[in-house]
Amino acid sequence: MTISSLRMTRDKVTVDNKKVINNDRAVDCNQLVPIKYKWAWHYYLDGCANHWMPTEVSMQRDIEQWKDPLGFTEDERHVIKRTFGFFATAETLVGNNIVLAIYKFVDNPECRQYLLRQAFEEAIHAHAFQYIVQSLSLNEIEMFNMYREVKTIFDKDEFSMIYTDGVLNPAFDTRSTLGLQTFLRNLIAYYGVTEGIFFYSGFVIMLSFGRQNRMPGSAEQIQYILRDESIHMNFGIELINTIVDENPAVWSSEFQQSIVSSVKKAVELECAYTRECLPRGVLGLNADLLGEYVQHIADRRLEKLRLPTQYGSRNPFPWMSEVIDLKKEKNFFETRVTEYQTGGALEW
Ligand SMILES: [Fe+2]
Ligand SMILES: [Fe+2]
Repeated sequence: MTISSLRMTRDKVTVDNKKVINNDRAVDCNQLVPIKYKWAWHYYLDGCANHWMPTEVSMQRDIEQWKDPLGFTEDERHVIKRTFGFFATAETLVGNNIVLAIYKFVDNPECRQYLLRQAFEEAIHAHAFQYIVQSLSLNEIEMFNMYREVKTIFDKDEFSMIYTDGVLNPAFDTRSTLGLQTFLRNLIAYYGVTEGIFFYSGFVIMLSFGRQNRMPGSAEQIQYILRDESIHMNFGIELINTIVDENPAVWSSEFQQSIVSSVKKAVELECAYTRECLPRGVLGLNADLLGEYVQHIADRRLEKLRLPTQYGSRNPFPWMSEVIDLKKEKNFFETRVTEYQTGGALEW
């Protein structure tokens, strides 16, 4: 009886025979070196250098502000709860998709090294929202079931989750062009859309509160999450583009068009979500401005995927670009946020 695919051999792994996907046991996926995809290794190192834990961030001022009956308007409380409610489960959906769907098929070891790091970061992000919900004494059941009760959140989650289901089908494989295209749809839905578009209205909303020293602990955690997520997205896009380069037949013009339509559909879902979150404006934010921002970032994602841009919208929140580059010291929060290297190096 065969109990393992492992066999003894003097054949050595070389960078030339490594592929990002479909190594199909012809190349040993247990040997991290020699590293072919240096970008994957560098994203792994960057992720480790950015390590943080939610419980290192004080929630004291958020708790005081949230408990103050005059601390927030009803509209502000609504948009804050919607933001936490969306993220509370979205992080777990992303983590599940990495572990259950992506990891199985991306069998290159340096990419897997990053996927393991990313999966842990998604656990930290899920922890962050559990910690925020608990600290603020929000109704846990309401927050964690929100994605099944609020249609605009359900629609966003369903957009990506159908691609997890597609890959989990036991008959699914990535050897045919059609199979590989289905797998790319999964990667684009998660890295390009969920992490690349759907997260960003929430980032803008919570960072807008943070810029006014409101909910500073939550905003600080969002800042760390945003930094992690921008690496996740960049890794994902590099992974997608490499799969395409190594398997050019998948990138037919029909397939490209269907990806563009799917990104446009995602922009509509996100705009519907922001309208439900912000029926009226708060903090100088409103659904129209967020819609413009969503279109702006959707164009940036399309560009990185080497697809034509669709909107030409301006960025109404230029400060977001600065926040994303956290290598610069930021001091618009009272808490000090500097380049985060290790847990021990944090100062508050
Ligand atoms: Fe995350
Ligand atoms: Fe992520």
